[in-house]
Amino acid sequence: MISAVVTGAAMGIGRAIAVRLIADGAHVVGLDVDGTALERTRGELGDALEPVVGDVGDWSAHERAADAAERAGELRWWVNNAGIDWVGAAHELDAEHVDRGLRVLLHGAIYGCAVAVRRMLPRRAGSIVNISSVQGVGAFPRYLVYDAAKAGVIMTTKSVAVDYGAHGIRCNAILPGCIETPMTYATLPPELDREEGLRREGLLAPMLRVGQPEEIAEVVAFLLSDRASYVNGAEVPVDGGATARIFGYPPLEVG
Ligand SMILES: NC(=O)c1ccc[n+]([C@@H]2O[C@H](COP(=O)([O-])OP(=O)(O)OC[C@H]3O[C@@H](n4cnc5c(N)ncnc54)[C@H](O)[C@@H]3O)[C@@H](O)[C@H]2O)c1
Repeated sequence: MISAVVTGAAMGIGRAIAVRLIADGAHVVGLDVDGTALERTRGELGDALEPVVGDVGDWSAHERAADAAERAGELRWWVNNAGIDWVGAAHELDAEHVDRGLRVLLHGAIYGCAVAVRRMLPRRAGSIVNISSVQGVGAFPRYLVYDAAKAGVIMTTKSVAVDYGAHGIRCNAILPGCIETPMTYATLPPELDREEGLRREGLLAPMLRVGQPEEIAEVVAFLLSDRASYVNGAEVPVDGGATARIFGYPPLEVG
């Protein structure tokens, strides 16, 4: 049986990825810092989701997740997804903010790649997907550390792809646009109801709507699978066209 590690699997995009990979027949080890939410999700998804509680900023958490995945099957798939919304402009930052943000958002993905590669190398087979962001290629106001980390995740992806492509291990990045998850709910203006907040967020993309976590999970499943056997080192936007556009022009009027 194929086993997979998905970080941040308790909710949002990571949960949708877990659901999708379980549907593909995988045993999924979900590594998440929120033990309560992770247990709730395991209750909903069943034993095909194996919870491991830990912080992606801690190397040993990745080792524990990898151990669990190897006990259950052949560790072939690894998704570095866990993340935090980390707001702050340069004049507002202190060292603690920078260190904590980079530890989760960038170190977490680097640690995950390093542990995954070591476990996959003996079989010369594996596929890693890193969840970056459109903010890895274009800055949002007041997101210095998050933007820098997400750009780092893209280069982490390319570096792993270059080093291990010849050894049977592929690595790709997805750049989500605005996706409807608990993280996004937390960023909506509090004076708006959720529906109106999401509608306004959706206007930032040419498709005039936010994305759903399942729309990310579908692309993750493809990139992990052998259907993507010649895709390596790619940065794939799943953003409704947001990064294809410069400036927020209104949509074209057509007859
Ligand atoms: N939601 C969006 O619009 C959006 C857009 C672009 C990129 N992303 C990225 O997608 C990924 C998932 O985001 P989401 O919207 O599903 O977020 P979310 O907050 O809804 O879920 C994130 C999950 O990660 C877990 N997590 C947080 N810090 C962790 C840590 N240190 N160790 C282990 N687990 C941890 C949380 O407990 C939670 O279960 C993140 O990397 C995020 O940056 C999200």
